[in-house]
Amino acid sequence: MVTLAYAIFGLCFLVFFSIANAKYYHSQLKYFNVKDYGAVADDKRDNSQAFLRAWYDGCRWGGRSVIYIPYGTYKLREVSFEGPYRLVVKGGGYLDGQGAAAWPYNDCSKNPKCMPLPVTMRFDFVTNSRIHHLRSINSKNSHINLFACDNVNISYVRLTAPDESPNTDGIHIGLSTNIKISRTVIQTGDDCIAMVTGSRNIEISNVTCGPGHGISIGSLGRTPGEVVTGINVRNCTFIGSQNGARIKTWAPSLSSVASDIFFGDIYMENVHNPILIDQQYCPTPSCSDQLGQDNSKVQISNVTFSNIWGTSSSKVAVTLKCSKLVPCKNVQLDNINLKYHGRGGPATSSCLNVIGDSYGRQSPPSCL
Ligand SMILES: *[C@@H]1O[C@H](CO)[C@@H](O)[C@H](O)[C@H]1NC(C)=O
Ligand SMILES: *[C@@H]1O[C@H](CO)[C@@H](O)[C@H](O)[C@H]1NC(C)=O
Ligand SMILES: *[C@@H]1O[C@H](CO)[C@@H](O)[C@H](O)[C@H]1NC(C)=O
Ligand SMILES: *[C@@H]1O[C@H](CO)[C@@H](O)[C@H](O)[C@H]1NC(C)=O
Repeated sequence: MVTLAYAIFGLCFLVFFSIANAKYYHSQLKYFNVKDYGAVADDKRDNSQAFLRAWYDGCRWGGRSVIYIPYGTYKLREVSFEGPYRLVVKGGGYLDGQGAAAWPYNDCSKNPKCMPLPVTMRFDFVTNSRIHHLRSINSKNSHINLFACDNVNISYVRLTAPDESPNTDGIHIGLSTNIKISRTVIQTGDDCIAMVTGSRNIEISNVTCGPGHGISIGSLGRTPGEVVTGINVRNCTFIGSQNGARIKTWAPSLSSVASDIFFGDIYMENVHNPILIDQQYCPTPSCSDQLGQDNSKVQISNVTFSNIWGTSSSKVAVTLKCSKLVPCKNVQLDNINLKYHGRGGPATSSCLNVIGDSYGRQSPPSCL
Protein backbone atom coordinates (compact mmCIF):
# COMPACT_ATOMS: atom_id res chain seq x y z
CA MET A 1 0.00 0.00 0.00
CA VAL A 2 1.36 3.40 -0.93
CA THR A 3 -0.02 6.44 0.84
CA LEU A 4 0.55 9.95 -0.36
CA ALA A 5 -0.25 12.55 2.23
CA TYR A 6 -1.58 15.99 1.57
CA ALA A 7 0.84 16.42 -1.24
CA ILE A 8 0.97 18.57 -4.26
CA PHE A 9 2.49 17.07 -7.32
CA GLY A 10 4.38 19.97 -8.76
CA LEU A 11 5.09 20.22 -12.46
CA CYS A 12 4.72 16.59 -12.44
CA PHE A 13 5.35 13.69 -14.65
CA LEU A 14 4.98 10.93 -12.15
CA VAL A 15 4.19 7.42 -13.08
CA PHE A 16 3.12 4.41 -11.10
CA PHE A 17 3.55 1.17 -12.91
CA SER A 18 1.55 -1.66 -11.58
CA ILE A 19 1.98 -5.11 -12.93
CA ALA A 20 -0.78 -7.49 -12.11
CA ASN A 21 -0.48 -11.00 -10.78
CA ALA A 22 0.62 -13.64 -13.26
CA LYS A 23 -2.79 -15.29 -13.30
CA TYR A 24 -4.37 -12.45 -15.26
CA TYR A 25 -1.24 -11.42 -17.02
CA HIS A 26 -1.38 -10.27 -20.60
CA SER A 27 1.38 -8.29 -22.06
CA GLN A 28 -0.21 -5.16 -23.49
CA LEU A 29 0.89 -1.99 -21.81
CA LYS A 30 -1.96 0.38 -21.14
CA TYR A 31 -1.86 3.99 -19.95
CA PHE A 32 -4.34 5.30 -17.41
CA ASN A 33 -4.10 9.06 -17.54
CA VAL A 34 -5.40 10.72 -14.38
CA LYS A 35 -6.82 13.53 -16.53
CA ASP A 36 -9.20 11.02 -18.09
CA TYR A 37 -10.49 10.41 -14.58
CA GLY A 38 -11.21 14.04 -13.92
CA ALA A 39 -7.91 15.24 -12.47
CA VAL A 40 -7.30 18.93 -13.05
CA ALA A 41 -3.87 20.48 -12.73
CA ASP A 42 -5.03 23.81 -11.34
CA ASP A 43 -3.21 23.64 -8.00
CA LYS A 44 -6.60 24.04 -6.23
CA ARG A 45 -8.95 21.15 -6.80
CA ASP A 46 -8.63 17.99 -4.71
CA ASN A 47 -7.64 15.28 -7.18
CA SER A 48 -7.55 12.40 -4.72
CA GLN A 49 -10.59 10.57 -6.12
CA ALA A 50 -9.45 10.96 -9.71
CA PHE A 51 -6.05 9.48 -8.86
CA LEU A 52 -7.67 6.61 -7.02
CA ARG A 53 -10.07 5.81 -9.87
CA ALA A 54 -7.16 5.72 -12.30
CA TRP A 55 -5.31 3.44 -9.91
CA TYR A 56 -8.23 1.01 -9.51
CA ASP A 57 -8.75 0.75 -13.26
CA GLY A 58 -5.02 0.35 -13.81
CA CYS A 59 -4.90 -2.43 -11.29
CA ARG A 60 -7.98 -4.20 -12.67
CA TRP A 61 -6.58 -4.11 -16.19
CA GLY A 62 -4.62 -7.23 -15.45
CA GLY A 63 -1.73 -6.41 -17.75
CA ARG A 64 1.07 -3.95 -17.45
CA SER A 65 -0.44 -0.60 -16.67
CA VAL A 66 0.90 2.90 -16.24
CA ILE A 67 -0.94 5.33 -14.03
CA TYR A 68 0.15 8.43 -15.84
CA ILE A 69 0.24 11.89 -14.31
CA PRO A 70 0.92 14.44 -17.04
CA TYR A 71 2.89 17.62 -16.57
CA GLY A 72 1.11 20.02 -14.19
CA THR A 73 0.51 20.78 -10.53
CA TYR A 74 -2.07 18.60 -8.80
CA LYS A 75 -3.37 18.97 -5.31
CA LEU A 76 -4.12 15.83 -3.29
CA ARG A 77 -5.37 14.94 0.14
CA GLU A 78 -4.21 11.73 1.77
CA VAL A 79 -4.60 8.86 -0.73
CA SER A 80 -3.79 5.16 -0.36
CA PHE A 81 -2.96 3.08 -3.38
CA GLU A 82 -3.51 -0.55 -2.44
CA GLY A 83 -2.13 -3.66 -4.12
CA PRO A 84 -1.17 -6.48 -4.36
CA TYR A 85 0.84 -5.46 -7.41
CA ARG A 86 4.42 -5.13 -8.50
CA LEU A 87 5.09 -1.47 -8.33
CA VAL A 88 7.42 1.00 -9.83
CA VAL A 89 7.17 4.64 -8.91
CA LYS A 90 9.16 6.97 -11.11
CA GLY A 91 8.82 10.37 -12.53
CA GLY A 92 10.80 13.52 -12.83
CA GLY A 93 8.17 15.46 -10.97
CA TYR A 94 8.11 16.27 -7.31
CA LEU A 95 5.89 15.95 -4.29
CA ASP A 96 5.46 19.08 -2.24
CA GLY A 97 4.40 18.23 1.31
CA GLN A 98 3.82 21.93 2.09
CA GLY A 99 5.38 21.38 5.45
CA ALA A 100 5.98 25.00 6.38
CA ALA A 101 2.30 25.37 7.31
CA ALA A 102 2.49 22.37 9.66
CA TRP A 103 5.94 22.54 11.26
CA PRO A 104 4.93 25.13 13.89
CA TYR A 105 2.37 22.58 15.21
CA ASN A 106 5.02 19.89 15.70
CA ASP A 107 5.51 19.81 19.45
CA CYS A 108 6.85 16.26 19.63
CA SER A 109 10.06 17.39 21.31
CA LYS A 110 8.00 18.58 24.31
CA ASN A 111 4.74 16.65 24.15
CA PRO A 112 4.96 12.84 24.44
CA LYS A 113 1.33 12.52 23.24
CA CYS A 114 1.86 14.66 20.18
CA MET A 115 -0.04 13.83 16.98
CA PRO A 116 2.45 12.82 14.34
CA LEU A 117 2.16 14.79 11.10
CA PRO A 118 1.61 12.90 7.84
CA VAL A 119 4.49 11.38 5.89
CA THR A 120 4.71 12.45 2.23
CA MET A 121 5.03 8.93 0.81
CA ARG A 122 4.38 5.82 2.86
CA PHE A 123 5.13 2.36 1.54
CA ASP A 124 3.50 -0.28 3.75
CA PHE A 125 3.85 -4.01 2.98
CA VAL A 126 5.32 -3.22 -0.43
CA THR A 127 7.57 -5.88 -1.98
CA ASN A 128 9.73 -6.27 -5.11
CA SER A 129 9.43 -2.63 -6.06
CA ARG A 130 11.44 0.28 -7.36
CA ILE A 131 11.24 3.97 -6.63
CA HIS A 132 13.41 6.18 -8.77
CA HIS A 133 13.75 9.62 -10.35
CA LEU A 134 11.54 11.33 -7.86
CA ARG A 135 11.79 14.53 -5.81
CA SER A 136 10.11 15.44 -2.58
CA ILE A 137 10.23 18.87 -0.99
CA ASN A 138 9.13 20.27 2.38
CA SER A 139 7.59 17.14 3.84
CA LYS A 140 5.50 17.62 6.97
CA ASN A 141 7.11 14.57 8.59
CA SER A 142 9.42 12.03 6.84
CA HIS A 143 9.64 12.27 3.07
CA ILE A 144 9.55 8.50 2.55
CA ASN A 145 8.60 5.84 5.08
CA LEU A 146 9.12 2.13 4.46
CA PHE A 147 7.25 -0.21 6.78
CA ALA A 148 7.18 -4.00 6.43
CA CYS A 149 8.70 -3.83 2.96
CA ASP A 150 10.95 -6.37 1.25
CA ASN A 151 13.16 -6.03 -1.82
CA VAL A 152 12.67 -2.35 -2.57
CA ASN A 153 15.29 -0.38 -4.53
CA ILE A 154 15.37 3.39 -4.28
CA SER A 155 17.63 5.40 -6.59
CA TYR A 156 17.96 8.82 -8.17
CA VAL A 157 15.78 10.40 -5.54
CA ARG A 158 16.20 13.91 -4.17
CA LEU A 159 14.64 14.86 -0.83
CA THR A 160 14.78 18.44 0.40
CA ALA A 161 13.51 20.34 3.44
CA PRO A 162 15.07 23.17 5.48
CA ASP A 163 17.79 22.47 7.99
CA GLU A 164 15.61 23.48 10.95
CA SER A 165 12.38 21.67 9.92
CA PRO A 166 11.33 19.22 12.69
CA ASN A 167 11.22 15.42 12.16
CA THR A 168 11.73 15.63 8.41
CA ASP A 169 13.63 12.36 8.01
CA GLY A 170 14.64 11.66 4.43
CA ILE A 171 13.96 7.91 4.39
CA HIS A 172 12.69 6.18 7.52
CA ILE A 173 12.93 2.38 7.50
CA GLY A 174 11.34 -0.06 9.93
CA LEU A 175 10.57 -3.80 9.87
CA SER A 176 11.94 -4.03 6.34
CA THR A 177 14.42 -6.30 4.61
CA ASN A 178 16.57 -6.19 1.48
CA ILE A 179 16.32 -2.46 0.84
CA LYS A 180 18.82 -0.73 -1.47
CA ILE A 181 19.23 3.01 -1.61
CA SER A 182 21.65 4.52 -4.12
CA ARG A 183 22.47 7.68 -6.09
CA THR A 184 20.31 9.80 -3.87
CA VAL A 185 20.67 13.30 -2.41
CA ILE A 186 19.04 14.09 0.93
CA GLN A 187 19.06 17.60 2.45
CA THR A 188 16.68 17.77 5.33
CA GLY A 189 16.04 18.75 8.95
CA ASP A 190 16.20 15.36 10.66
CA ASP A 191 17.92 12.05 9.79
CA CYS A 192 19.05 11.61 6.23
CA ILE A 193 18.21 7.91 6.56
CA ALA A 194 16.91 6.39 9.80
CA MET A 195 16.84 2.65 10.37
CA VAL A 196 14.75 1.53 13.32
CA THR A 197 13.78 -1.87 14.64
CA GLY A 198 13.36 -4.68 12.12
CA SER A 199 15.71 -3.14 9.55
CA ARG A 200 17.76 -6.00 8.06
CA ASN A 201 20.00 -6.21 5.01
CA ILE A 202 19.97 -2.56 4.05
CA GLU A 203 22.50 -1.41 1.43
CA ILE A 204 23.10 2.30 1.13
CA SER A 205 25.54 3.65 -1.44
CA ASN A 206 26.30 6.86 -3.30
CA VAL A 207 24.10 8.93 -1.05
CA THR A 208 24.90 12.57 -0.32
CA CYS A 209 23.55 13.90 2.98
CA GLY A 210 23.41 17.30 4.60
CA PRO A 211 22.05 19.34 6.12
CA GLY A 212 20.48 16.79 8.44
CA HIS A 213 21.22 14.43 11.29
CA GLY A 214 23.15 11.78 9.38
CA ILE A 215 22.63 8.14 8.48
CA SER A 216 21.33 6.79 11.75
CA ILE A 217 20.60 3.43 13.25
CA GLY A 218 18.03 3.84 16.01
CA SER A 219 16.93 5.12 18.26
CA LEU A 220 16.74 1.58 19.65
CA GLY A 221 15.55 0.08 22.92
CA ARG A 222 12.27 1.80 23.64
CA THR A 223 10.46 -1.56 23.35
CA PRO A 224 12.05 -4.93 24.23
CA GLY A 225 13.70 -7.15 21.62
CA GLU A 226 14.39 -4.57 18.95
CA VAL A 227 16.84 -5.69 16.25
CA VAL A 228 18.76 -3.94 13.49
CA THR A 229 21.28 -6.03 11.59
CA GLY A 230 23.11 -6.25 8.29
CA ILE A 231 23.56 -2.57 7.47
CA ASN A 232 26.04 -1.62 4.78
CA VAL A 233 26.73 2.06 4.05
CA ARG A 234 29.32 2.79 1.34
CA ASN A 235 30.54 5.55 -0.94
CA CYS A 236 28.56 8.26 0.81
CA THR A 237 29.23 11.96 1.35
CA PHE A 238 28.13 14.10 4.28
CA ILE A 239 28.26 17.87 3.95
CA GLY A 240 27.59 20.17 6.91
CA SER A 241 25.40 17.64 8.67
CA GLN A 242 25.04 17.33 12.44
CA ASN A 243 26.09 13.66 12.36
CA GLY A 244 27.63 11.33 9.83
CA ALA A 245 27.63 7.62 10.68
CA ARG A 246 25.52 7.24 13.82
CA ILE A 247 24.10 4.52 16.09
CA LYS A 248 21.89 5.68 18.94
CA THR A 249 20.01 3.92 21.71
CA TRP A 250 17.66 5.32 24.31
CA ALA A 251 18.89 5.74 27.83
CA PRO A 252 17.69 3.95 29.78
CA SER A 253 16.47 1.29 27.34
CA LEU A 254 15.21 -2.29 27.08
CA SER A 255 17.18 -5.32 25.83
CA SER A 256 17.76 -5.04 22.09
CA VAL A 257 20.44 -5.72 19.51
CA ALA A 258 22.31 -3.81 16.78
CA SER A 259 24.89 -5.85 14.90
CA ASP A 260 26.78 -6.32 11.65
CA ILE A 261 26.99 -2.69 10.68
CA PHE A 262 29.51 -1.37 8.19
CA PHE A 263 30.19 2.27 7.30
CA GLY A 264 32.93 2.58 4.67
CA ASP A 265 34.41 4.84 1.98
CA ILE A 266 32.80 7.93 3.36
CA TYR A 267 33.78 11.57 2.91
CA MET A 268 32.82 14.07 5.61
CA GLU A 269 32.89 17.82 5.10
CA ASN A 270 32.34 19.99 8.13
CA VAL A 271 30.30 17.38 9.99
CA HIS A 272 29.71 17.97 13.71
CA ASN A 273 29.88 14.29 14.80
CA PRO A 274 31.35 12.35 11.87
CA ILE A 275 31.48 9.01 13.75
CA LEU A 276 29.10 8.56 16.64
CA ILE A 277 27.80 5.74 18.81
CA ASP A 278 25.54 7.26 21.45
CA GLN A 279 24.01 4.91 23.99
CA GLN A 280 22.92 7.81 26.16
CA TYR A 281 20.52 9.25 23.64
CA CYS A 282 17.68 11.17 25.20
CA PRO A 283 17.16 14.52 23.57
CA THR A 284 14.16 15.82 25.49
CA PRO A 285 14.80 18.24 28.34
CA SER A 286 13.32 15.86 30.95
CA CYS A 287 16.09 13.37 30.20
CA SER A 288 18.95 15.31 31.68
CA ASP A 289 17.87 14.46 35.22
CA GLN A 290 16.72 10.93 34.44
CA LEU A 291 18.28 8.06 36.37
CA GLY A 292 20.11 5.33 34.54
CA GLN A 293 21.46 7.45 31.72
CA ASP A 294 24.33 5.05 31.10
CA ASN A 295 22.20 1.94 31.48
CA SER A 296 21.18 1.15 27.94
CA LYS A 297 20.52 -2.56 27.46
CA VAL A 298 21.02 -2.48 23.71
CA GLN A 299 23.92 -4.75 22.74
CA ILE A 300 25.88 -3.22 19.89
CA SER A 301 28.37 -5.55 18.19
CA ASN A 302 30.33 -6.09 14.99
CA VAL A 303 30.47 -2.49 13.85
CA THR A 304 33.13 -1.28 11.40
CA PHE A 305 34.00 2.27 10.42
CA SER A 306 36.41 1.99 7.51
CA ASN A 307 38.07 4.53 5.26
CA ILE A 308 36.38 7.65 6.55
CA TRP A 309 38.06 10.97 5.83
CA GLY A 310 37.44 14.72 5.70
CA THR A 311 36.72 17.43 8.26
CA SER A 312 34.91 17.59 11.56
CA SER A 313 33.30 20.83 12.74
CA SER A 314 33.74 19.78 16.37
CA LYS A 315 36.90 18.76 18.16
CA VAL A 316 35.71 15.27 19.08
CA ALA A 317 35.51 13.69 15.65
CA VAL A 318 35.03 10.11 16.86
CA THR A 319 32.68 9.38 19.78
CA LEU A 320 32.01 5.80 20.87
CA LYS A 321 29.85 6.19 23.95
CA CYS A 322 28.59 2.72 24.85
CA SER A 323 26.65 1.23 27.72
CA LYS A 324 28.07 0.30 31.09
CA LEU A 325 25.67 -2.69 31.30
CA VAL A 326 26.40 -4.11 27.83
CA PRO A 327 29.62 -2.62 26.44
CA CYS A 328 29.93 -2.46 22.64
CA LYS A 329 31.74 -5.52 21.25
CA ASN A 330 33.97 -5.88 18.23
CA VAL A 331 33.97 -2.25 17.08
CA GLN A 332 36.61 -1.62 14.41
CA LEU A 333 38.15 1.66 13.35
CA ASP A 334 40.04 1.21 10.10
CA ASN A 335 41.82 4.00 8.27
CA ILE A 336 40.25 7.11 9.74
CA ASN A 337 41.45 10.56 8.71
CA LEU A 338 39.33 13.36 10.13
CA LYS A 339 40.69 16.87 10.68
CA TYR A 340 39.46 19.65 12.92
CA HIS A 341 40.45 23.21 12.07
CA GLY A 342 38.73 25.10 14.92
CA ARG A 343 40.05 26.30 18.25
CA GLY A 344 41.51 24.07 20.93
CA GLY A 345 43.90 21.91 18.99
CA PRO A 346 43.56 18.91 16.71
CA ALA A 347 40.66 16.44 16.50
CA THR A 348 40.28 13.85 19.26
CA SER A 349 38.39 10.62 19.80
CA SER A 350 36.47 9.54 22.86
CA CYS A 351 35.58 6.01 24.00
CA LEU A 352 33.39 4.74 26.83
CA ASN A 353 32.60 1.06 27.52
CA VAL A 354 33.73 -0.18 24.14
CA ILE A 355 35.74 -3.26 23.15
CA GLY A 356 37.35 -3.22 19.72
CA ASP A 357 40.43 -2.63 17.58
CA SER A 358 41.83 -0.02 15.29
CA TYR A 359 44.18 -0.39 12.39
CA GLY A 360 45.50 1.58 9.43
CA ARG A 361 45.81 5.32 9.71
CA GLN A 362 44.18 6.81 12.83
CA SER A 363 43.69 10.54 12.85
CA PRO A 364 42.50 11.49 15.43
CA PRO A 365 44.50 8.95 17.44
CA SER A 366 42.23 6.01 18.22
CA CYS A 367 40.76 5.72 21.72
CA LEU A 368 40.25 1.97 21.26
C1 LIG B 1 17.32 -4.37 -6.58
O1 LIG B 1 18.67 -4.38 -7.02
C2 LIG B 1 19.32 -5.65 -6.94
C3 LIG B 1 20.74 -5.51 -7.47
O2 LIG B 1 21.33 -4.35 -7.13
C4 LIG B 1 18.57 -6.67 -7.76
O3 LIG B 1 19.15 -7.93 -7.57
C5 LIG B 1 17.11 -6.71 -7.35
O4 LIG B 1 16.41 -7.57 -8.20
C6 LIG B 1 16.51 -5.32 -7.44
N1 LIG B 1 15.13 -5.36 -6.99
C7 LIG B 1 14.13 -4.84 -7.70
C8 LIG B 1 12.78 -4.96 -7.09
O5 LIG B 1 14.29 -4.27 -8.76
C1 LIG C 1 28.23 4.29 -6.98
O1 LIG C 1 29.04 5.17 -7.77
C2 LIG C 1 30.16 4.52 -8.34
C3 LIG C 1 31.01 5.59 -9.00
O2 LIG C 1 30.25 6.39 -9.83
C4 LIG C 1 29.70 3.46 -9.29
O3 LIG C 1 30.80 2.78 -9.82
C5 LIG C 1 28.79 2.47 -8.56
O4 LIG C 1 28.26 1.53 -9.45
C6 LIG C 1 27.66 3.19 -7.86
N1 LIG C 1 26.91 2.22 -7.07
C7 LIG C 1 25.58 2.09 -7.15
C8 LIG C 1 24.99 1.00 -6.32
O5 LIG C 1 24.87 2.81 -7.83
C1 LIG D 1 31.95 2.65 -4.71
O1 LIG D 1 32.62 3.42 -5.71
C2 LIG D 1 33.56 2.67 -6.46
C3 LIG D 1 34.26 3.59 -7.44
O2 LIG D 1 34.15 4.92 -7.12
C4 LIG D 1 32.87 1.57 -7.20
O3 LIG D 1 33.81 0.79 -7.90
C5 LIG D 1 32.11 0.69 -6.23
O4 LIG D 1 31.35 -0.26 -6.96
C6 LIG D 1 31.17 1.53 -5.39
N1 LIG D 1 30.52 0.67 -4.41
C7 LIG D 1 29.19 0.70 -4.22
C8 LIG D 1 28.65 -0.26 -3.22
O5 LIG D 1 28.44 1.46 -4.83
C1 LIG E 1 29.88 -10.94 15.37
O1 LIG E 1 30.92 -11.50 14.60
C2 LIG E 1 31.42 -12.72 15.12
C3 LIG E 1 32.66 -13.12 14.36
O2 LIG E 1 32.50 -12.88 12.99
C4 LIG E 1 30.32 -13.78 15.05
O3 LIG E 1 30.74 -15.00 15.57
C5 LIG E 1 29.11 -13.27 15.86
O4 LIG E 1 28.03 -14.15 15.69
C6 LIG E 1 28.67 -11.89 15.40
N1 LIG E 1 27.69 -11.39 16.34
C7 LIG E 1 26.49 -10.99 15.95
C8 LIG E 1 25.56 -10.55 17.03
O5 LIG E 1 26.16 -10.93 14.78
